[in-house]
Amino acid sequence: MTAAQLTDVATLRQRARQHIEEGAITEGYSADREEVLKLLNASLATELVCYLRYKRHYFMATGLKASVAAAEFLEHAQQELAHSDQLAERIMQLGGEPDFNPEGLTSRSHAEYVEGETLKEMITEDLVAERIAIDSYREIITFLGNDDPTTRRLFEEILAQEEEHADDLADLLKDS
Ligand SMILES: [Fe+2]
Ligand SMILES: [Fe+2]
Repeated sequence: MTAAQLTDVATLRQRARQHIEEGAITEGYSADREEVLKLLNASLATELVCYLRYKRHYFMATGLKASVAAAEFLEHAQQELAHSDQLAERIMQLGGEPDFNPEGLTSRSHAEYVEGETLKEMITEDLVAERIAIDSYREIITFLGNDDPTTRRLFEEILAQEEEHADDLADLLKDS
């Protein structure tokens, strides 16, 4: 069947009754599910590492009385945590298991956990991590193509927010 052809109603109805235990996964799901789950779990690890790094930076910047940066770090931390929840939910919908194991978290993640000593180093490391996330999410979106539009849309939403984060950090870097 080519992408442009539509399935007739009788076939759609009949197919939907097969394998109902699969929930949201229907016969028309054309992505490599194992591969998609791997990408989702690597991204979950990335978000968790970014959450932890931003939380560290939030507390350290507060100690440095750098309130503008601290507020930004806290906001980003909360948004990375929300991304991790969205990814875990999608993993469950696809019949996988979200990997929250702290062991090996930093090696599963694309982005790194770098503490940094000065405020400028913290902002720089956060910006580098955002740029890694942006590139990896963009590649995942291309990989998914039209095979899993829901997962692709999720990554598109997250990507847009990572681009905002990178932009915020680039502004902070100019002022620091
Ligand atoms: Fe994120
Ligand atoms: Fe981010």
